[in-house]
Amino acid sequence: MKRDLITPLDFSVEELDRLFDLADDIRLRPDKYAHACAGKKMATCFYEPSTRTRLSHEAAMLNLGGQVMGFSDAGSSSAAKGESVADTARVISCFADIMVIRHPKEGAAAVASHFATIPVINAGDGGHQHPTQTLTDLLTIRNLKGSLSGFTIGLCGDLMFGRTVHSLINALMRYPDIHFVFISPPELKVPDYITDALVERGITYEECVSLDDTISKLDLLYMTRVQKERFFNEEDYVRLKDFYVLDKSRLDMAKPDMYVLHPLPRVNEISVDVDDDRRAAYFPQVQFGVYVRMALVLTLLNITVE
Ligand code: NCD
Repeated sequence: MKRDLITPLDFSVEELDRLFDLADDIRLRPDKYAHACAGKKMATCFYEPSTRTRLSHEAAMLNLGGQVMGFSDAGSSSAAKGESVADTARVISCFADIMVIRHPKEGAAAVASHFATIPVINAGDGGHQHPTQTLTDLLTIRNLKGSLSGFTIGLCGDLMFGRTVHSLINALMRYPDIHFVFISPPELKVPDYITDALVERGITYEECVSLDDTISKLDLLYMTRVQKERFFNEEDYVRLKDFYVLDKSRLDMAKPDMYVLHPLPRVNEISVDVDDDRRAAYFPQVQFGVYVRMALVLTLLNITVE
């Protein structure tokens, strides 16, 4: 049975623990894994723009001694001629051992996984899910905080369209003693299906508009960009894009050990004067993303390294 990663819930908490242990071992002893994927090929099929997600999957495969191929623009693939995701997935299965797909339509990765005969990794499907970013976020939190339980996390910005937010909440729901603070303009609130799921599980959360009023009680702050490409009109985007700006003076109100995460790319929501603060964890987070994707590729390809 092939395995895929389409939502963070495709892995149990125990499986995630093993994945993060493997990622930590890869970080500490990269040479041990340098040839683990020799002879294997990864296809990256990106129908939407990306810097980090595509290149970190490719870096992960190259670090493991494997090879990569793919496209980074739907216009240069047969999608431009009208080929379906299902057919593309079948075709890619003849060329590669593992497929990574990013697509603007919600559910596209699930379709690919259904038709591909190789493992499929969802690298973002519309405003829905972004599970490998979530693995990155969880590994980063585990390393910074020492555990994935017992903290208050603020998620700030575009909570409606931000797929990284949806995936992260989805994943964190399974860990004990986490309190969520959702900080957004009223127009960009976290979708009801997510808050409903929290209520169902008896998980506490609060929703608010002001970052200044809440920042001092947070252990982690997950900042996000307003998702321009998912807005229906430019006017709303322009009105909301600079709603939150985390700058040095705001960060001064936070706990001395409150880390700031961001999936990146950042636009204006974190000012560059925060970058030198010890609590700015968004660039180390990118590096964790490579280790966790290496661990993911090994796991999905069922490769163990002694
Ligand atoms: C995120 C995405 O594509 O959803 N970026 C990423 O993969 N790190 C976040 C974003 O684009 O805002």
